Amino acid sequence: MHIHKYEKIWLIFGISSIALFLCIVGVSAFAFEHHPSGGMEAIDPNKVKETPPFDKPGVKKIDEDTYEVSIVASAFAYEPNKIQVPVGKKIIFKIASTDVTHSFSIVQTNVNMMIVPGRVSTKEYIFKEPGTHLVICNEYCGTGHHFMKTEVEVIE
Ligand code: CUA
Repeated sequence: MHIHKYEKIWLIFGISSIALFLCIVGVSAFAFEHHPSGGMEAIDPNKVKETPPFDKPGVKKIDEDTYEVSIVASAFAYEPNKIQVPVGKKIIFKIASTDVTHSFSIVQTNVNMMIVPGRVSTKEYIFKEPGTHLVICNEYCGTGHHFMKTEVEVIE
């Protein structure tokens, strides 16, 4: 088969593009493994309640502008049930499940995390206004799924 010079150029260009694409995919996969977006540390689902910070779930002040909220999700509740956080501060939600997959979805925010057993789900959020937000479970987790909810109260 005879290949024209220009076809050859296009062929080389095509192969180079594929190689570059594979390179980018490879680098992204590598980066993802080392810096997972949303933070996905491993945790033993049977030892959630013994593993800090989930041994004492609740709101913890990290510094003047940062608060950490650790929450244990299990069928069909969140612990603690009452979550009170300050307005205008960085809130780091850390959630782990002791049983099946749940979600932690704060209505009217972009906080919508899947809580997979064996993983710690992390999400940062700053509430701009005081008020009460409903939190629901968006992943079907069993007979009590529709009753699995809590509230985040944002205070001045
Ligand atoms: Cu938990 Cu649905």
